[in-house]
Amino acid sequence: MGSVTLRAASAADAQAVATLHADSWRRHYRGAFADAFLDGDVVADRLAVWAGRLGSPKPDQVTIVADVDGEPVGFVHVVLDDDARWGSFIDNLHVTDALRRGGIGSALITRAAQTVAGHGTTGALYLWVLEQNTAAQAFYVGHGASPVERAYAGEPGGVPGRLNGSPAKLRMSWAHARDLRKR
Ligand SMILES: CC(C)(COP(=O)(O)OP(=O)(O)OC[C@H]1O[C@@H](n2cnc3c(N)ncnc32)[C@H](O)[C@@H]1OP(=O)(O)O)[C@@H](O)C(=O)NCCC(=O)NCCS
Repeated sequence: MGSVTLRAASAADAQAVATLHADSWRRHYRGAFADAFLDGDVVADRLAVWAGRLGSPKPDQVTIVADVDGEPVGFVHVVLDDDARWGSFIDNLHVTDALRRGGIGSALITRAAQTVAGHGTTGALYLWVLEQNTAAQAFYVGHGASPVERAYAGEPGGVPGRLNGSPAKLRMSWAHARDLRKR
């Protein structure tokens, strides 16, 4: 693997980020998300989300892309001061499948935590992870997060029919972004 570079995402990244995101959902969210959604609308859904986010960036939102050899291979999206109690929100963190377990996710979440520690009002940090996604939970616990709450996952994009039954998600919390352990 070439060296990893982190940078702010731009509107030109929308297609690559959406493709990576959809591929990751297809691999890791199957079971919780309906096959009809994953095998059908998921790319268009993610492209609409990322074209909106990166085309009209909000001042309280930050998207960081990891490049290897000039190609996007991972991303993280942060909503600063999203919740009065739980703080800033990591909305998405995904690494391209072929490069998982190579340190890219750690680099991205470390940069996200630095952004929150520098710009968030409270410094607290949280995210939601599907209950079935035990691999990602191990990653977050390894970085110092604690599971604090279980809730219904909710339909992606709020569109009915995109879930299988009523899957759960777990809230992972860091009391302060500076508590995030680097690995
Ligand atoms: C979860 C994810 C972002 C982690 O990024 P990554 O680049 O693969 O992880 P890193 O290489 O930085 O991992 C660092 C450490 O975290 C832990 N870790 C990472 N993935 C793990 C797994 N599948 N199982 C157990 N521990 C894991 C390990 O301790 C690892 O160190 P090691 O490989 O030396 O043992 C990435 O694997 C991914 O995109 N997964 C699929 C999508 C996803 O589930 N995203 C999270 C949605 S909430």
